[in-house]
Amino acid sequence: MDCVCWNYPSKQSLLRQERGDKVIAVCRNASDELKALGIEIIDGIDITCDSSVSELRDRLSGLSIDVLINNAGIVERVSLENLDFDSIRRQFEVNAIGALRVTHALLPLLKPGSKVVMMTSRMGSIDDNTSGDSYGYRMSKVALSMAGKSLSHDLKPLGIAIAILHPGLVQTRMTNFSPSGITAEVSVKGLLDRIDRLTLKNTGTFWHSNGEILPW
Ligand SMILES: NC(=O)c1ccc[n+]([C@@H]2O[C@H](COP(=O)([O-])OP(=O)(O)OC[C@H]3O[C@@H](n4cnc5c(N)ncnc54)[C@H](OP(=O)(O)O)[C@@H]3O)[C@@H](O)[C@H]2O)c1
Repeated sequence: MDCVCWNYPSKQSLLRQERGDKVIAVCRNASDELKALGIEIIDGIDITCDSSVSELRDRLSGLSIDVLINNAGIVERVSLENLDFDSIRRQFEVNAIGALRVTHALLPLLKPGSKVVMMTSRMGSIDDNTSGDSYGYRMSKVALSMAGKSLSHDLKPLGIAIAILHPGLVQTRMTNFSPSGITAEVSVKGLLDRIDRLTLKNTGTFWHSNGEILPW
């Protein structure tokens, strides 16, 4: 059985399901759109909360996860003129610590051959930062990518590979469905391709969904 635990699930979870994978969507509140997909949903899970993530582990117990996708994230604009430290902390809690908390909690359900995705952002590339700003988002995504890199070393002996992925600029709620973005379908097709090609040899690489290797 190929079991994919997608947190947070987008409509594109269906793409995996269409390939015959068993998809489990994890979220805080299941939307009508998500419910309409007919996939298994575990709701009421907040990745910033220890007890909530323990509950997730208990609800998945007995299962073996082939692919864990840490997708949940938030963006809040923090500029130098408006340096909101609470917002920066919030973004670290969700974007960086939350993904590590979930991965750590679900480690017992991963096995040799399992794969883990950290959904980071090109905005977390230090080399690619040519415009500044966005302190909380940029800093938290750098931290997430670093967590992914450390996990790639620590989990390699266990046969578990890590992909650090940038989905592209995608038309989602986060970007107010920006017309200059790619569709979720295009992004997810690329992401699935990256996951399919992920091995213990290329574990810990930072990729764009289109296959480009991104600079740290
Ligand atoms: N869209 C882009 O262009 C883009 C570019 C680069 C990177 N990314 C990354 O890609 C990932 C997905 O982004 P998206 O565009 O799909 O964003 P989105 O539409 O805003 O969705 C993000 C999801 O994360 C969930 N979430 C937020 N905080 C959570 C928490 N504490 N516990 C559990 N779930 C939580 C939200 O759940 P609720 O529905 O409950 O709020 C929301 O459904 C994010 O990590 C984002 O940083 C996106």
